[in-house]
Amino acid sequence: MSKKNIKILAIETSCDETAAAVILGNGKNNLKILSNIVASQIDLHRITHGIVPEVASRAHVEKIIPVIQESLLKSRIKLKDIDLFAVTIGPGLVGSLLVGIDIVRALAYASDKPVISVNHVEAHIYANFVDVSQKFPAIVLVVSGGHTQLILMRGHGNYKVLGSTIDDAAGEAFDKVAKILGLPYPGGPSISEEASKKQKVKSRSIKFPRPMIDTDDFDFSFSGLKTAVLYKVRELTSNRKSPLNRDLITAIAYEFQNAIVDVLVTKTTKAARKYKTKTIMLGGGVAANKLLRSELKKRVKKEVPNSKFYIPAPKFCTDNAAVVGANTFYKYSHDKKFLKNWKKVGLNLNPKL
Ligand code: KG4
Ligand code: ZN
Repeated sequence: MSKKNIKILAIETSCDETAAAVILGNGKNNLKILSNIVASQIDLHRITHGIVPEVASRAHVEKIIPVIQESLLKSRIKLKDIDLFAVTIGPGLVGSLLVGIDIVRALAYASDKPVISVNHVEAHIYANFVDVSQKFPAIVLVVSGGHTQLILMRGHGNYKVLGSTIDDAAGEAFDKVAKILGLPYPGGPSISEEASKKQKVKSRSIKFPRPMIDTDDFDFSFSGLKTAVLYKVRELTSNRKSPLNRDLITAIAYEFQNAIVDVLVTKTTKAARKYKTKTIMLGGGVAANKLLRSELKKRVKKEVPNSKFYIPAPKFCTDNAAVVGANTFYKYSHDKKFLKNWKKVGLNLNPKL
């Protein structure tokens, strides 16, 4: 298949969003998102204050066909005109991933078209390529519910993972701290909202550690920070019968967010200086965080002024299928042998980043 225009139907079901998107690719670097539909399971998982994998899988089964239908309808592209199918194959919840994988295999089989496997972390990186093409080398900070990675990207498909979390992911820390504070799931947006009230309330100042901020490597650790929050809450509630009052919750959320953002930004700018990168990019659900976005922007300007800085729109940071399609288009347009190889191997269930 060698076409000027390529139409891709992309599916994402790795965690708790059932998503489908139709992408129109043109030439080497031009792509247009014709539709990007996301059915969120947040209301379902709020009841249990976190994801119950079987509940997530069942919700994907229920939503996947209507979501695909809506994405095709909105794009005005017919299923028979899709050239390429793409699906997230991991990392993620196995029962959730299999729903997307199986439907895409069936669609591709019935239409005799190739199906491409996409790595979830790589798809998060491609949020940065949805409406622009970036200069390399680039540093990408991927921060989601399951991942925290600093990646050096020297070209399309060319990655070196500089560092990762050694325990909890950044989003996981937001979610767990929110639970400790009695804030609703998902923790990221609720902590961010709570922290924004700090200016309005007068409360004592609380300090939390910045784990591994000064180490020479690019690894992260957030489990100690989460424990520091837990101990602080215990200390503040030990002599009273009543739970934390609102001002204290706000103060803790504010300082926790400051600590985590400080670590993420410090390590990202340090990596950008070390590797003299031309671009700094962000991806993953935590990249939707307002403080992270504004702090990174501020400090890149000050500390790495020669580097360009790009932040994707929040809707492309959290899980969605448009970035799965964007990733697939760039693989297709930058690697002549790509489709040939894919036809040979079929669906690769273990592609590495
Ligand atoms: O990328 P994503 O949608 O799913 C995974 O691949 O995990 O990321 C979800 C994570 C959750 O932990 C959620 O709390 C966090 O992203 N998140 C945020 C914000 N929005 C979502 N964290 C901080 N601030 C936000 N505004
Ligand atoms: Zn994700």
